[in-house]
Amino acid sequence: MKHLTLKTTNGSFEILIAESLKNIRDYLPEKRAIILTDRHVASLYRGQFPDLPVIEIESGETNKNLETVNDVYRKLIDLEADRSTFLLGIGGGIVTDVTGFIGSTFLRGIDYGFVASTVLAQVDAAIGGKNGVNYSGYKNLIGTIRQPRFVICDLEMLRTLPTEEVRSGFAEIVKTAAVRDASLFAFLEDNIEKAVSLDLKVMEKIIAECVRIKTEIVSQDEKESGQRRLLNFGHSFGHAIEKVSGLTHGESVSIGMCLSVDFSVKRNILTPESSARLKNLLTKINLPTRILFQKEAIVQAMRKDKKRENENLHFVFLHDIGDARTELISLSELKEFLDDLC
Ligand code: GLY
Repeated sequence: MKHLTLKTTNGSFEILIAESLKNIRDYLPEKRAIILTDRHVASLYRGQFPDLPVIEIESGETNKNLETVNDVYRKLIDLEADRSTFLLGIGGGIVTDVTGFIGSTFLRGIDYGFVASTVLAQVDAAIGGKNGVNYSGYKNLIGTIRQPRFVICDLEMLRTLPTEEVRSGFAEIVKTAAVRDASLFAFLEDNIEKAVSLDLKVMEKIIAECVRIKTEIVSQDEKESGQRRLLNFGHSFGHAIEKVSGLTHGESVSIGMCLSVDFSVKRNILTPESSARLKNLLTKINLPTRILFQKEAIVQAMRKDKKRENENLHFVFLHDIGDARTELISLSELKEFLDDLC
C-alpha cells in the first residue's frame, strides 16, 4: 500500500493507494456516517459496505446534475443528517463529484471521503477537490473546490470494470505522464500490456505516480490559476468531442490529446517523433487517435467550455514528453487549425 498526503492551505488530506474497501472502518471518523453510491456499484459491492445508511444515485454522466443533488439533499434530511455527519462516496467519478459537491454545500459543508472504484476516479476525478455537476449542456459548470478528508484507491475494485472503462481511465494516465513526467511515460511504454490487464504491482506504481503528480500540482495551485491548467491537456478538444460524438470521456480526451500534439507540431514546438510516441501509446491502449468530425459542432461546443475567457482559451501545448505549457489562444485560431486539418 502507498500513502500520499495532499497539503493545501486548508489542511492535509490522505490518499491511500492499494487499500481496500474492506478496511474502510479504519478510516471513518467516530461520528455518524452515510454512504453515497450508485446503483451499479451497489449491485456489485453492497455486501462489502459497512453497516451504514446508503443513498443510491443512478449511474451515468447524464445523472451528474442538480436533480440528483436535490434528491440526495432530501434523503439526507430524511436521514436526519446534521453537521457532524460524515458522507462516504463509494464509486467512480460521478459518485465522487456528487459526494464532494453535496459534502461542500449541505449545511454549508460537512466532512466527506471517497473510496474510488474506477481508474478514472483513482488517477483524476477523486483527487484534487474539484467537485462539479453538469448544468444546461455545460460540463461541471456548477461546483466547489474542497478536499475530501481521505481517498482510498481500491485496486481490486478495478477488476469488475468493463474494458472500455479501464481504457477510458488510461487516457488520464497518459495525459498525466505526458504533461509532467517523461520517466512515467517511458514506464507506460514498457509496461502497457501488463497495465491494461490490471497487473496489481504495475497499477499500484502507475496510480501512485499519477496521484503524486496531481497532488504536487494541486498543492501549489488548488484554485487553477496557473500550473493546474496543464492537467487540461487534451481536454479543450476532448470535452467538445465528448459532447458532439457520444464517445466516452477517455476516448474523447485521447483524440483531444492527438489534436493538441498535431497543433504543437504545426507550431514547431514539438517534434513529430514525440507526437508519434504519444499516438503509439494511445493506440496500444486501444484508444482512438482520430475522428471524422464536424468541426463547426466542435468549435460551437468549445464555446461552451467553462474555462473559456471571452474569445480565448488557456490551451495546453506539448513541448516535449513530460513538458507541457499553456498559452492563451483565440477560438478563431483553433478553428483555423481544424480547418487546415480537414
Ligand atoms: N475532482 C477532480 C479534480 O479536482 O481535478
